[in-house]
Amino acid sequence: MLCLRHCQRLTRLGPLNNTHRHPLRLAPGAWAAADLHSSRGSTEQHNHRSGGQQQYQWNHSATWRHALAGLLAGTGAVLAYGFYYSKTERAATSVGDPRGPLPVYTQDEVTKHRSVQDGGVWVTYKGGVYDITEFVAMHPGGDKILLAAGGAIEPFWSLYAVHNQEHVLEILEEYKVGELSAEDQRRQQKQQASTSDPYSGDPERHPALRVNSLKPFNAEPPPELLTDSYVTPTALFFKRNHLPVPAVDPHSYRLRVEGLPGGGVLSLSLDELKSRFPKHTITATLQCAGNRRSEMNLVKQVKGLNWGIAAISNATWSGARLSDVLRAAGYGPEVARWARHVQFEGLDRDITGTTYGASIPLSKAVSEEGDVLLAYEMNGADIPADHGYPVRAVVPGTVGARNVKWLGKVIVSSEESSSHWQQNDYKGFSPGTDWDTVDFSSAPAIQELPIQSAITTPAEGAVVDRSAQELTVRGYAWSGGGREVVRVDVSADGGKTWCVAQLIGGDPEAPPPLPGRAWGWKLWEATVPLPPRGAPRGGPEAPGGHMEIVCKAVDSSYNMQPDTVAPIWNLRGVLSNAWHRVTVTIREDEEEEDEEE
Ligand code: MTE
Repeated sequence: MLCLRHCQRLTRLGPLNNTHRHPLRLAPGAWAAADLHSSRGSTEQHNHRSGGQQQYQWNHSATWRHALAGLLAGTGAVLAYGFYYSKTERAATSVGDPRGPLPVYTQDEVTKHRSVQDGGVWVTYKGGVYDITEFVAMHPGGDKILLAAGGAIEPFWSLYAVHNQEHVLEILEEYKVGELSAEDQRRQQKQQASTSDPYSGDPERHPALRVNSLKPFNAEPPPELLTDSYVTPTALFFKRNHLPVPAVDPHSYRLRVEGLPGGGVLSLSLDELKSRFPKHTITATLQCAGNRRSEMNLVKQVKGLNWGIAAISNATWSGARLSDVLRAAGYGPEVARWARHVQFEGLDRDITGTTYGASIPLSKAVSEEGDVLLAYEMNGADIPADHGYPVRAVVPGTVGARNVKWLGKVIVSSEESSSHWQQNDYKGFSPGTDWDTVDFSSAPAIQELPIQSAITTPAEGAVVDRSAQELTVRGYAWSGGGREVVRVDVSADGGKTWCVAQLIGGDPEAPPPLPGRAWGWKLWEATVPLPPRGAPRGGPEAPGGHMEIVCKAVDSSYNMQPDTVAPIWNLRGVLSNAWHRVTVTIREDEEEEDEEE
């Protein structure tokens, strides 16, 4: 229910009811028709209020369906867009709010309004009563949204804190039809105080992390700390949660492996996972699909957390090979004839009970060289709560989203995961695709990520003394699919001239990674001269006194990064891997400047 954007896409054709809203009563046939049309994505519908006093026309598009899917699945990104969009539209259609004092309702009266047939769908929020019938009438998967019907919104918003924002509340306000009686307000407050915050069990986090969202928790380390060591300290490893961190009891934990011949389920305790299968260790980089999204935002607003350059980290992971476990569960060549995917289900759930999920191609899952782990250790210790305790999938070379944490189920299937995150998120689109035209089913789910690199020091806007004469530039580079980074080029003049950076792998004594299995990043370093005094460097935006440092990496397939962001811009801000640019200021030596003057 919390997505009210679609309601705001209603365009009023008739006069407004100038007292307050009344529940929308649809004849059963009309309701069914509305639902049918909406799920087919019809572009326009008409609906008449009972009594024929008001008439609405609504434009129905893929846009709001995605916002809604995002809501129910727990992602706020698409929603934020939705609310922004609705506000813009509302501004265009707003005719003022001449409502007088609103009637007082008891909780019992509100509770009676749980469906269109009950006289409308009402909810309460902070003592107000809201009629959200119009929204429900447009909802293609009404079963979930109705969980809030007749009750309070607060428990939902405590889960998806992204909604609890001023502009969202403003929109909700338009749907207010009354006040909750004082007695029921008191009762509700008491109840809500005793209902614990779903995030109250989340673990403590390192204060150095830059928090993008607190609930759910999403944070990245400061770039200058990110490349201090080849293996990222666990506390600083970026954290990307869609939901509260589940509390999993290691003693009762079971990992279920399903979908294999015979219809049986292999159920493994944590001890069995550790003792029945050889322990395998890899060093692998995880990168969120949204890493460097903030640079896309500079081109045009995208929807999603505003990640900087550090939604990427590198760790050692130990656990059982997924291929070993699948074989123990009955996987064999005959399965490869029909199965195509291996699905993962997490133990973190949204308010409807839906778990986080994703899938990877079967070929990656069953290949020994694919190195997919059911990992129980990170950097030599138990995987911590934020990163999937007690077991997570580590799918090296593959976008972070498929590395499912708090792993509960592994399912061999002919189908991809049907989860929101596999089907309606984490996909790439043309810069020309917008939220009105996007068709998520038309694009493949992101799996292997493209070549990436970024400068971690100096930071954007850093000041360098002229007397230093040169500057050491550091950063990271990584490519998906096990493709090794073979070169990083660095420019100190905005990309006119280049030098080759020194690559720094992990253990210098260790042999180089096997072809196609370079799962860990390379750190790199280059020392570049400062430009001569007064020389214009880096184009019109970075004239004398500034220098624009640029990096770009090349992988073993000679894939290279695109030079600018605009041609790869996409509405979700994923796959952002253009050349990374940092502009620094050169502080001229005062004495020398005085001499010149
Ligand atoms: N697994 C579960 N169960 N729930 C989640 O929210 N987030 C995914 C993935 N696995 C997620 C999950 C995403 S989008 C990313 S980028 C990585 O976990 C982040 O892993 P990390 O938090 O260990 O860095």
